[in-house]
Amino acid sequence: LKRAPPPHFITLRDLTGPQIGSLVQSALQFKHMCKVEGKTAHPDLPLKGQTLAIMFSKRSTRTRVATETAMAYLGGQGLFLSSQDIQLGVNESLRDTSQVVSSMCAGIMARVGAHREIEELAHYSSVPVINALSDTFHPTQILADLMTMHEVAVAERCPPGTLPHEVNFRDTLQGQRVAWVGDANNIVWEMMMAFPKLGVDLAVATPKGYDTPAVLRETAAGFAREHRTQVAYTQHPEEAIRDSHFIVTDTWVSMGQEAEKTKRLQDFKGYQITHDLINRSQPHKDWKFMHCLPRKQEEVDDAVFYSPQSLVFPEAENRKWTILAVLNALLVNKRY
Ligand code: CP
Ligand code: NVA
Repeated sequence: LKRAPPPHFITLRDLTGPQIGSLVQSALQFKHMCKVEGKTAHPDLPLKGQTLAIMFSKRSTRTRVATETAMAYLGGQGLFLSSQDIQLGVNESLRDTSQVVSSMCAGIMARVGAHREIEELAHYSSVPVINALSDTFHPTQILADLMTMHEVAVAERCPPGTLPHEVNFRDTLQGQRVAWVGDANNIVWEMMMAFPKLGVDLAVATPKGYDTPAVLRETAAGFAREHRTQVAYTQHPEEAIRDSHFIVTDTWVSMGQEAEKTKRLQDFKGYQITHDLINRSQPHKDWKFMHCLPRKQEEVDDAVFYSPQSLVFPEAENRKWTILAVLNALLVNKRY
């Protein structure tokens, strides 16, 4: 008998809108349970005695802390393994590492370089594999962004005291418009795989020479056609920001691109998010700012980053609740 492959979490491209919705709804419930009801651990400790291998070949603050604390919440243990500790594709193939680690652990969370590395780990793993960032996608980040967008919509549009987990996430997101201003990278590409399925329009501004690969544009366009949303591209930040509810950026120099720093800083001139850029671009009157972090001054100045419109810290905290929801779905429920 051929065993069914475990459910992996590699990119939101592979999930339906309702599946993404149920993960966000579960994250909202966990946040409420912990922070409002005071249940600082899951009452059933469903992952007691189980271990998640957290194999990271790049640095991390948020994803690592979120994952280790989420595993503790569920009664399990996170085992952090950096590329200094294990043979992650260096002295041993990913295939062999995956087979060995998955024979001892309940799941694998991996931060890799090339996207094919996470696909290879998943292909050979007998347990669920979660993508903690590759050079193409960052699914756990975009789940947290969606949760944050929902919370702010509830706070601004629902009667005072409305609890975010009691409102249908998919209703609040319909008709929202997100402006991406910055690099064509893993963060915006992951947004392109999710937003069009959830009623959210996306306008992407990247400089000349920093285009999104055609294959990703085609996938996003297919979702947009099916769900009657828009994904638009421009080289003018003002055009993307116009009428947008959320203005989002990320570092101009992602991990692994350090050698290109000088050229990139030159190429991204005019892309720094400032109040001046936002005001002259005519955003939606209640615009908000988001950034996955870590952040540098060059892509957004302090005035915007630390402004009341900035959601960066709730967005970072929501990494924990969304990763908790993913772990609960994959390792406890064994399905989305
Ligand atoms: N946003 C994010 O993934 O942060 P870390 O690199 O610190 O995990
Ligand atoms: N684009 C960034 C995201 C970090 C969370 C990087 O890949 O380094």
